[in-house]
Amino acid sequence: MKFLNILLLCTINSIVHAFAEDTSVTEDEINDYEIEHQSVLDQHLSECTVLLRKNGDFPISSSERKIHLYGGGIRHTVKGGLGSGNIKTRTFDTIETAFKKEGFEVLSSEYLDAYDDCYEKAHDDFIQGLRDGFDYANPYGYLIDHFSVIMDEPECDIPIDESGDLAVYVVSRITGEGIDRKVAKGDIFLTDSEKKAIKTLARGYKKFMLVLNTGGPVDLSGLEEVQNILVLSQLGFNTSKTLVDLVTGEKYPSGKLTTTWTKYDDYFANTGNLTDVDYVEGVYVGYRYFDSADVDVLFPFGHGLSYTEFENSIKSVKINGEKVTVDAIVTNVGKAKGKEVLELYLSKPSTSDLDEPYQELVNFAKTKELSPKKKDNVKLEFKLSDFASYDSKSQAYVLNAGNYIIRIGNSSRNTVPCAVIEVPSKVIVKKVQNQLADSGFQDLVFKSKKEDDLTGVPVLTLNAKHIKTETVDYTKKSIINEEVKGLSVEEKVSLVIGAHSSDPYGSYVYSVAGVAGEFYKFRDLKPAVLSDGPAGINIAKDYYIGEDGLPHSTEGMFGSDTLDIVPLEMRDAFSFLFPFVPEGVTYIHQYTTAIPIGTALAQSWNVNFAKKCGDIVGDEMNIFGINFWLAPALNIHRTIVNGRNFEYYSEDPYISGMMAASITKGVQGHEKAYVTLKHFLGNNKETNRSFNSSNMSERAFREVYLRGFEIAIKNGKPGGIMSSYNLVNGIHVNEHVGIMTNVLRKELEYNEVVMTDWLFANMANTDTEGKYPQYSAVNIIKASGDVVMQGNKDFFDEVVAAIEDNTLSMEELEASATRIYEVILKVQN
Ligand SMILES: *[C@@H]1O[C@H](CO)[C@@H](O)[C@H](O)[C@H]1NC(C)=O
Ligand SMILES: *[C@@H]1O[C@H](CO)[C@@H](O)[C@H](O)[C@H]1NC(C)=O
Ligand SMILES: *[C@@H]1O[C@H](CO)[C@@H](O)[C@H](O)[C@H]1NC(C)=O
Ligand SMILES: *[C@@H]1O[C@H](CO)[C@@H](O)[C@H](O)[C@H]1NC(C)=O
Ligand SMILES: *[C@@H]1O[C@H](CO)[C@@H](O)[C@H](O)[C@H]1NC(C)=O
Ligand SMILES: *[C@@H]1O[C@H](CO)[C@@H](O)[C@H](O)[C@H]1NC(C)=O
Repeated sequence: MKFLNILLLCTINSIVHAFAEDTSVTEDEINDYEIEHQSVLDQHLSECTVLLRKNGDFPISSSERKIHLYGGGIRHTVKGGLGSGNIKTRTFDTIETAFKKEGFEVLSSEYLDAYDDCYEKAHDDFIQGLRDGFDYANPYGYLIDHFSVIMDEPECDIPIDESGDLAVYVVSRITGEGIDRKVAKGDIFLTDSEKKAIKTLARGYKKFMLVLNTGGPVDLSGLEEVQNILVLSQLGFNTSKTLVDLVTGEKYPSGKLTTTWTKYDDYFANTGNLTDVDYVEGVYVGYRYFDSADVDVLFPFGHGLSYTEFENSIKSVKINGEKVTVDAIVTNVGKAKGKEVLELYLSKPSTSDLDEPYQELVNFAKTKELSPKKKDNVKLEFKLSDFASYDSKSQAYVLNAGNYIIRIGNSSRNTVPCAVIEVPSKVIVKKVQNQLADSGFQDLVFKSKKEDDLTGVPVLTLNAKHIKTETVDYTKKSIINEEVKGLSVEEKVSLVIGAHSSDPYGSYVYSVAGVAGEFYKFRDLKPAVLSDGPAGINIAKDYYIGEDGLPHSTEGMFGSDTLDIVPLEMRDAFSFLFPFVPEGVTYIHQYTTAIPIGTALAQSWNVNFAKKCGDIVGDEMNIFGINFWLAPALNIHRTIVNGRNFEYYSEDPYISGMMAASITKGVQGHEKAYVTLKHFLGNNKETNRSFNSSNMSERAFREVYLRGFEIAIKNGKPGGIMSSYNLVNGIHVNEHVGIMTNVLRKELEYNEVVMTDWLFANMANTDTEGKYPQYSAVNIIKASGDVVMQGNKDFFDEVVAAIEDNTLSMEELEASATRIYEVILKVQN
């Protein structure tokens, strides 16, 4: 029956239409806002790229204009990932096109043509395989499971010119929502043909660069002979042009990794004897593990080279109250322009009760552009209490007595102590209550073997009286709006269930074509309109006005790639989910700007750039009439296998939180425009995400998975938060009273809108074993969730019935209805 419901939600009217092969859009003039937004991005895109290795051969000189281009990414360049973050740009140049446009002669056309043939053949076979495996018993679930259909990089062993002057090899990988990455050649690992070609080029060419056009790490072990490696990442519209500019020296790289790139087997969470869902590594995520366990890595967190060289020196370290300030000077000691990032880390003292990672990031700063010999003053500050550890025995955030070492560096593997802060006695920073059920295991402990030489390092002392112990009031009640009290039960319920058609066979059309959803239309008020992200505004590029006077997207819910996997005889039944082109209508276009994927943005380590990206998004939200942007996304890169990592920033919660806060400020600087931080929290895998429990200790929950959100909430004041699909310790997060009410509402005092993720996805992967229940709208509201997205009649009826039989109190319903009602008033013109 569930399957039927979902059919009722969707735009059935489109069934009559034929499928689109091509939407034959007529090009219209580029809008001023598009030009403006692109020019802002152009100033910063190269900052998101990370030079992993260099030997000085790049950039090339202006006389070199002949190039051999190899690899899948040359003609199949990826601008971003799939799923909600798949922004439809006006046009997109491949890397081959971009080099040609800049006057390069491409010497490898024969190879590229042969590659295309190989690729197409592999793709046909891939699609045929999926079509053969179509699940007739659960067709909708099958489509949801495959809506980011991704073929691994095929083995295309095509002859290359084995020697020459200049070559670039581009490895591309695309990942997406709903499916995790594969621990296989062609995804996490290079294919044999990729590896062979890369090694041949590295040996045979005078100048060779390996480029990674990927959303996350690829295992680059075994490529020691490759001396120039660039993570181009996925930068949106101008991805390809940015690479050309980096090769020619028109631009320079200044990004640093926000997640460790190393041999796959060395990532802790992947070692064979662990299950992916028990977070036994506790707080030892990413570099916290590698640095503590002293595991050698290929490219550490925070690593990134430049076309020039820098030196840094410390001017002073001071403590004022509990605020520590480090003043440093960065000097460009090389021969080219560049920007450098300084990273500040803190090593906390381990006690027998509370083991601590070797170090954690507490701040960072990027210099302005420095010409050779120029200097910049850099100030890095942090408050000790913001980095207190969580002690689940005393249920408090604490700073244990001992020596806190402050380190400065240019990667997590290259940090130098610059001061010691002595904390004379234990400080209780905040008293809370544990909120998670027992994880069922003990977190592992890694004792750092590294000893520091602290000779000559200044020692400062914290005066603990500067930190006042906070205590949380868990009894505080939500304020209920008087007008909401006067509404009928149905009206109150309509506020907390997202927009859906009341006529089960009727068409449901949104007020902006291609948006993800709306809150329910309340009386005569304009509904709040919600668009997906995070790589820009995700709305339909083409739409038409239907006979009902409303905008209709031509794109459908799934792309045409997903359509290909539907067996021919099933296509009519599912046509409403796919692109279609009705006859005789006039198309209207909506062009939005694709910003870099989350990981690339974070790699810039430039919070001002993040804010500018938010500003671009906010501006376009105003242009198209969108109120909530379903982004930024800031889950932790716990493993590199997570299919949605590309949307997320980092393995570190501090930089994640700071990036999210900055982009939030950019968006919300615009009227009636709000962000929706997602996915709150613990969504660290995609496959079967609605029925997979992220089991973690209270400490890991608070210090790693919650912390980024906490930072973003405090510094960015987001208007919305989206709860995640996954469970934590056996309970759906969106129904988890401990996480949603006690932590988010009471401890973090978050009083804005909390919406669920789009719960139609629970149609997929139906949990036949019944280990975990389906989502319950009543439980979601009881856990202070405000609006169940996207709504449906079942959810609506469930809430009405619960009010009637008193399993949901009127106050609980009104508390959520109040927050939605008030935001709807705020978005009116
Ligand atoms: C970005 O694209 C625009 C339009 O093609 C072009 O004018 C601009 O130079 C590009 N900039 C970069 C850095 O790629
Ligand atoms: C994995 O198994 C090995 C060998 O059994 C053991 O030494 C190691 O401690 C285990 N690692 C973890 C993280 O459990
Ligand atoms: C949950 O996810 C992990 C990691 O992907 C997987 O090993 C496990 O089988 C999944 N469990 C279920 C019930 O889907
Ligand atoms: C990082 O800083 C150290 C000095 O602390 C310096 O020796 C090294 O060259 C720097 N590395 C990069 C990549 O700038
Ligand atoms: C998803 O997880 C549930 C357990 O929660 C399990 O019963 C089901 O088989 C899983 N489905 C898939 C496709 O892995
Ligand atoms: C995660 O926790 C749930 C609920 O306590 C439990 O049923 C499940 O077995 C745990 N998963 C693993 C992999 O231990």
